[in-house]
Amino acid sequence: MAFENNDRVIVVDHPMVQHKLAILRDKTTSSKQFRELVRELAMFEAYEATRDLPLEEVVVETPVAEATCSIIKGRKMAIVPILRAGLGMVEGVLDLIPAARVGHLGMYRDEETHIPHEYYAKMPEDIAERDVLVVDPMLATGGSLVAAIEYLRKQGVKNLKLMVLVAAPEGVKTVLEADPDVVLYTCAVDERLNDAAYIVPGLGDAGDRIFGTK
Ligand code: PRP
Ligand code: URA
Repeated sequence: MAFENNDRVIVVDHPMVQHKLAILRDKTTSSKQFRELVRELAMFEAYEATRDLPLEEVVVETPVAEATCSIIKGRKMAIVPILRAGLGMVEGVLDLIPAARVGHLGMYRDEETHIPHEYYAKMPEDIAERDVLVVDPMLATGGSLVAAIEYLRKQGVKNLKLMVLVAAPEGVKTVLEADPDVVLYTCAVDERLNDAAYIVPGLGDAGDRIFGTK
């Protein structure tokens, strides 16, 4: 199903991204390649998610003459992966934003109820002053991301963006309704959830495929 881009849901439809996503979905893709692809896709997505960073002018001396250039106006950023699968996206975002701090939020979905349980949280001290990118490859029911948004808002975070690789329409609706200001980046919005709350067609269990646990 094609999903229309809007102000709050940005589907990164670049041909390189869609090509890599196709390989990521393939059940025969190895754990090693899966990890590499998650990292690469996270970097491409972070490129889109940082498109609105403010710039300032500086003068640089080239070997030929002075050039008026633009650099990013000192902005404090943080990446917050939702454990486990979100860890797979961190290095890709750091490739693009090496100065970002990293907070960790541990959450797992109960297999029966699909309700997320938080088991760990460790944030940079000044998280409230940072622009935060929450990363998790999968947005299914939206329970995990809604819990992450609620946690970060309580910490005082104002500028919050979500980065996932594959989303279900049900989850997209849930996170947008849960927070009026949050913006979501995804490489695809799939058809639906199945009875086990897995994304169809999706790519299976992202955490298991990244860490080879199944
Ligand atoms: C997966 C995924 C998300 C969550 C999405 O994690 O990485 O965090 O499920 O589902 P939801 O939108 O319905 O909340 P999981 O709980 O399987 O834990 P893991 O990363 O440790 O494998
Ligand atoms: N978590 C996953 O890893 N995959 C899904 O399809 C849903 C939740």
